[in-house]
Amino acid sequence: MINYRNAKLSDVEEIIKLINLYAEQGLMLPRTRSTLYEGIREFVVAVEDEKIIGTGSLHIIWDDLAEVRALAVDPDRRGQGIGRRIVEILLQEAADLHCPQVFTLTYQVEFFKNFGFNIVDKENMPHKVWKECINCVKFPNCDENAMILNLG
Ligand SMILES: CC(C)(COP(=O)(O)OP(=O)(O)OC[C@H]1O[C@@H](n2cnc3c(N)ncnc32)[C@H](O)[C@@H]1OP(=O)(O)O)[C@@H](O)C(=O)NCCC(=O)NCCS
Repeated sequence: MINYRNAKLSDVEEIIKLINLYAEQGLMLPRTRSTLYEGIREFVVAVEDEKIIGTGSLHIIWDDLAEVRALAVDPDRRGQGIGRRIVEILLQEAADLHCPQVFTLTYQVEFFKNFGFNIVDKENMPHKVWKECINCVKFPNCDENAMILNLG
């Protein structure tokens, strides 16, 4: 059975392994231990037989905007609804915080469309969104899609 729960400090090594596996393929941004420990309370993990098979985080940007980031499912477990469940949990967290909008920067456009996210012009995103982009290997030529979901 898959258990979905908030991440613990002891999960960091497994989370980083999962994220950086995809980062090596250019599908995600690499994460350092430092940023993961600092942001650990933002992370949700999917656990089966004590192994982390999925993760994702909700990062608050401002009083009206949050970001789904660092979403990754074990390559052997993709397409089984795990990513969907993680995003549902993160969106519920955003709703509980009364955050009206959630965005993501992604190559997985069809996956996010399933939740009602729509592509928006990156130029229209608030400047604060780009704060961490200067640390990205792709900066300033970001080819990810900015997508927004209105939670109402
Ligand atoms: C993207 C990712 C998180 C999706 O998780 P997943 O567990 O494989 O996806 P799910 O099984 O929950 O899929 C949910 C729905 O999205 C669809 N879907 C998933 N990935 C898709 C894709 N790449 N393109 C189109 N549809 C996709 C599924 O078919 C499913 O639709 P359905 O419910 O109508 O059958 C996962 O494939 C992954 O880790 N990818 C590599 C890392 C990555 O790109 N992360 C995103 C960074 S923003």
